Amino acid sequence: MPKFVCLCEEITIEDIEKVIREEKISDLETLKRRLRVSMGHCGGRYCINLLLKLYPKLFGESPRYKTSEELHIPKPRPPVKPTILAKFLDEVSE
Ligand code: FES
Repeated sequence: MPKFVCLCEEITIEDIEKVIREEKISDLETLKRRLRVSMGHCGGRYCINLLLKLYPKLFGESPRYKTSEELHIPKPRPPVKPTILAKFLDEVSE
């Protein structure tokens, strides 16, 4: 049974480990660009925390003493929460 890290993009831990190993990826931003991890409809709210927990296993070092810039944590893009499009239409028509 596959162990999903990113449910939105259906990316498993095996997918991530394979790409890191084969392409020598060393940060989360590159991983995001390569696999689309954290680019699903939840904006990474689920998988970023899981990736940070897996960080020592994936990259061989603890993220504890690094800043978010040093970790290259993907930033959530708006809309942060799923939004009903009718809300935007109401704002436009007012
Ligand atoms: S679980 Fe990864 S983007 Fe939603």
